[in-house]
Order: sequence, then C-alpha cells, then structure tokens
Amino acid sequence: RQSLRKLADNDDLRIGSSIRYDALMEDTAYQELATTEFSSWTIENEMKMDAMQPEENAFNYVKVDEMTEMAQAHDIAIRGHVLVWGEALPAWVQEQAVDRVSAERILKSHIQNIVTHYKGSIDTFDVVNEAYHDNGTLRDNIWLRTIGPDYIPLAFQWAHEANPDANLYYNDFGTEMSNKKSEAMLEALSAWKEEGVPIDGIGTQMHLDAADTRFSKDRIAEWFQRIEDAGFQVAVTEMDVKLQNLNNGDAKNIQAERYRDVMEACLDTAACGEFTVWGISDNHSWITEQESADGKPLLFNENSQPKKAYHTIQRKL
Ligand code: XIL
Repeated sequence: RQSLRKLADNDDLRIGSSIRYDALMEDTAYQELATTEFSSWTIENEMKMDAMQPEENAFNYVKVDEMTEMAQAHDIAIRGHVLVWGEALPAWVQEQAVDRVSAERILKSHIQNIVTHYKGSIDTFDVVNEAYHDNGTLRDNIWLRTIGPDYIPLAFQWAHEANPDANLYYNDFGTEMSNKKSEAMLEALSAWKEEGVPIDGIGTQMHLDAADTRFSKDRIAEWFQRIEDAGFQVAVTEMDVKLQNLNNGDAKNIQAERYRDVMEACLDTAACGEFTVWGISDNHSWITEQESADGKPLLFNENSQPKKAYHTIQRKL
C-alpha cells in the first residue's frame, strides 16, 4: 500500500503518531509501522517531567535520545511533549516549588535544559499542556498556585530563549470547536501573542468519542480557521476515536468518518501542518489501557493491520 507518510509529503503535511519507547525498541511490527507510515513522532511519555527530571537537576535523556536518533535516521520529525503540565510531576517538585521564586527557577531550568539539549534535533514542542477548565478558567496546578497565570507566557519566553528557531505550541483537549474553554484559551493566547510572547501554534488534541453527537466537521473547520486568523499554526496533536460508548454495528464507519472529517478540516486549513494520532495500533493505546478494551480508537488493529479509518484518511491524502 501507499504509506500515509508518502501521501502526506505531497500535501506538505506532517503525519504523526505518539510513540512509546518500549514498543519501539521491542516490537518489530510497531517499529516498522512507526518508521514507514509516519513522518513525525510525538514522545508519548518519556519527555514528561517525571521521566525527564526524576530528581532535581538529574536529567534523564537516554530514552528520548535513542528515539530521536532513530527518528533522524528515518528522516522523521519529533514533537517534544511536554514541557509544562500539571500532571506527570516528580515528587521533588511538590517539595521544592514552594513559592514564586523557587517555582520559576525550577520551571525555567527544566524547560531550558531540555530545549537546549534537543536543539537541532527537536524543532517543535508542546510547551504548555491542558491549562484550562471547560468553563474557561485556569486549572489548578502547582505552577498556577506558585507563579500565577504568568507561568504560561513565561514558559514560552524561556523556551524561545533556549532555541529561537523552535516552533512552540499550546496544547489542550476539548478545544476542537468553539466553546467556553476554547474561546477563553484563544483570547488569552492571542492577547499574549500581541504582547510579543513567542507562541507559534495551538494544538488540538482531538480525543473523540464516536458516541458524541455534538461532533461537527464544519464547526471544527470554522474553529481551525479562527485559530489561523488569529495568527497561529494549527496541529491535530493526539487524535483517537473511542468506540466503547457506541453500541451499534456502525461504530467502525462512524470512526472512519471522524478521522476523514478531521483530516479534511486540517487539509482545508492552510495553517494546519500536522495531523497526529495518539498511538499506532489498538493494543498500544491509553484508551484501551485506562478505559476499555472495546475502545479500539486507532488506525491499526491489534495485529498491526490497517482499519477502515486508515483507508479513509489514506483516500483523503
Ligand atoms: C497519556 C499517555 O498516553 C498514557 O500512556 C499515560 O499513562 C498518561 O498520559 N493528554 C496528553 C497526553 O497530553 O500526554 C496524555 O498521554 C493523554 C492526554
């Protein structure tokens, strides 16, 4: 078959998947799909703060270095995920980040060490992840408590200082269409951008539920256009479509349509340069692990065979 990667190259689109270190190193079928079907890899867990800096100032680059080297050998881009998040924090952060001064020191050092280490090999980062609530207010986390809302623009400034050429993204879920959360997010990011904060793009995770009847391709396309009009790049960063809540025989068709529609919205948006799925095959999915074995949310099945969803996006490309 004609790989997604070959087809996407013609559209100047990065087609990506999240990648897990263990599967990449141990499972040959997984490695084969990772290198032949995708032109971008997002580090699924190995770059999160608990993995990268398990003890203060003891950066653990080994696994991500190996992944980055393999990616480079196959001419694959890496999306660095994620520099600032309220989750996946090592225990020492809770003890050391006690006020604004200490938290800023820790966060700046974390961001700048990583961005500097991967200068030349990682050109795109999810800098801040999941900062907003559904109601449009900022979510509580250690960075908000100690630094305040400024932790967001500061994170982008620090990353930019370490590598002025990197593409820096804000990333969130539930923001694929206009709603309270996405409007608040876009308003704040736009205001910061106008003040000169180096925010290049907005990632929409796109974790979808096939049973969600609010899905609308037109509303997604409209929202992507709004992001573009505000001067940002757009990326689909973590797409999957879970099936466990849909009890009818049509589930696979609906899933395939969702993938096709989101791909179409991305292709129709000039600023959308990346379409990334959150895992390659259904047996390496966080949905399968954390929610239900019936979720089957990805493009390849447990036997690494392409599903209907794969073929519909292949036809779009
Ligand atoms: C998930 C991983 O897929 C899991 O393996 C891990 O146990 C928890 O994190 N939004 C994000 C991702 O930005 O980092 C999350 O990844 C999924 C939701």
